[in-house]
Amino acid sequence: MQLFIEETYEDMSRRAADLIAAQLIVDPASTLGLATGSTPIGLYADLVEDFQADRISFEQVTTFNLDEYRGLSPEHDQSYRYFMQKNLFDHVDIDPEATSVPDGANPDAQAACESYEQAISEAGGIDLQLLGLGHNGHIGFNEPCDHFPVRTHEVALTESTRRANARFFAGEDEVPTAAYTMGVGTVMAARRVLMIVTGADKADILHRAFCGPVTPWVPASILQFHPDVTLICDEAAWSGMKA
Ligand code: F6R
Repeated sequence: MQLFIEETYEDMSRRAADLIAAQLIVDPASTLGLATGSTPIGLYADLVEDFQADRISFEQVTTFNLDEYRGLSPEHDQSYRYFMQKNLFDHVDIDPEATSVPDGANPDAQAACESYEQAISEAGGIDLQLLGLGHNGHIGFNEPCDHFPVRTHEVALTESTRRANARFFAGEDEVPTAAYTMGVGTVMAARRVLMIVTGADKADILHRAFCGPVTPWVPASILQFHPDVTLICDEAAWSGMKA
């Protein structure tokens, strides 16, 4: 594993943006796996800045997002599609047709998930997968459970995840109860994985993910088996590793 411990959130974001920019310079037609949440907001802002400064282009890039709430349309301001438009896609030269987010508006879970998995495979797989880390160790919406779900699937969100995400909705009751997410196997098939982690509140789970046993009860722990993982965190998140 490659490790970068940065002093601040801003430094972490810049380091991660540099790594993605380098990927696009080496292979302008890269396929990126993308994440939502609070953690990558700074990184996306930095990539927009790099694009505006003519350092990178997304013209030939293809993207697949990790997950989407089931039942939210792309126009819903808490959908992950909306998040991606506002934080990245609307500000760069990416072909809208080359951006994919699981279709949360499709009530047919099996069709939505199978076609997503197929699209990833037709694109030749993911070159670089960006991940955040959930407080309970989830990656994408792969919640702790007794096995590692392999492919894109529907998942019931745990109470802790719904509570954590309630801050973005009018109340906890408004948070969808299910999502479509890439499976752990889909993530593990990416050629490179980039995880970014920030804040003291993630210190304990970061330690469990990379220093504890590999277990589906901490889904991110599977990354210990991935041959090409880069972890970029700030010092606050790293503080649990020194314990
Ligand atoms: C979102 C996603 C989630 C988040 C995780 C951390 O697409 O895949 O696994 O990465 O919930 O979220 P934040 O960054 O808000 O702490």
